[in-house]
Amino acid sequence: MQTEKNASVSRTSVDAASGNPAVAGKHRKPHLVDRENRATVGEINVPNPKMQCRDVSVFYDYGEKEAIRKVSLDIGQNEVIAMIGPSGCGKSTFIRCLNRMNDTIDGCVVKGRITLDEINIYDKSIDVVPLRAQVGMVFQKPNPFPKSIYDNIAYGPKIHGLVQNKSETDDLVESSLKRAGLWNEVKDRLDQPGTSLSGGQQQRLCIARTIAVDPEVILMDEPCSALDPIATAIIEDLIDELRQEYSIAIVTHSMQQASRVSQRTAFFHLGDLIEVGPTEQIFLNPLHQLTHDYITGRFG
Ligand SMILES: Nc1ncnc2c1ncn2[C@@H]1O[C@H](COP(=O)(O)OP(=O)(O)O)[C@@H](O)[C@H]1O
Ligand SMILES: [Mg+2]
Repeated sequence: MQTEKNASVSRTSVDAASGNPAVAGKHRKPHLVDRENRATVGEINVPNPKMQCRDVSVFYDYGEKEAIRKVSLDIGQNEVIAMIGPSGCGKSTFIRCLNRMNDTIDGCVVKGRITLDEINIYDKSIDVVPLRAQVGMVFQKPNPFPKSIYDNIAYGPKIHGLVQNKSETDDLVESSLKRAGLWNEVKDRLDQPGTSLSGGQQQRLCIARTIAVDPEVILMDEPCSALDPIATAIIEDLIDELRQEYSIAIVTHSMQQASRVSQRTAFFHLGDLIEVGPTEQIFLNPLHQLTHDYITGRFG
């Protein structure tokens, strides 16, 4: 599995040969759906990988339908990596592989190798319950439990055995809400339902809940798409702060958001990881024609 073609290759020469946006003329071909020129361009490796994905393919419907194809990518320590690309290109499918969320979908088959700190997370010996605490996930729609604000945070640490008594639980609830930037807004109403909060507050509650179980990686699948611009800005600031402690992979439809919050960006198209690189380079000087066409709004 470790002999994959994508490992450690900087593909600028390949791009030049295949006509990248820097050199291509005006008459671009329509988007290729054949298999040509779809190997990942850019650097998939990082010096300090937290997670490594190699040749990851995912099939739905018991292998009938290939959703992503041989994706190889590192996720660095203390980085935010953004996943962009048109609807249906496989962004959610890809990040769900990182905490084995796809295991919950009947008929979904994941192939390839994914490691967290060099441990294969698909190994038979791995228990997915602690894995999903270590690699936490925040969804598009805030989904607080039908419990109080306090219990939304306290529940996970209790079942994972991270707290032994009431005062430890109180402390963890407070520190998690503080790290999620929500404490001041909720400290006087901890016994009220999580669902009584605004959408943006609920999303921060879900982030606090994820943080409370001491994750190392946080996956976010379009965490702001149900939020207004002010709530979005608060979450974006929070993501930037959280990077100090965690690795974050965020799916976003907003290229502005990707450029505001991420250091690296991965562009997917029809199940292939087409290009990955430093966010600024992806948006200012993409190597691949498809990336160029997507970020300039030729398709979406
Ligand atoms: N549970 C599922 N069952 C069958 N097909 C699915 C399922 N989830 C996603 N797909 C298909 O996999 C492909 C990738 O979808 P998805 O990962 O949701 O893309 P994105 O998040 O980029 O919009 C699409 O063709 C989609 O229809
Ligand atoms: Mg999605």
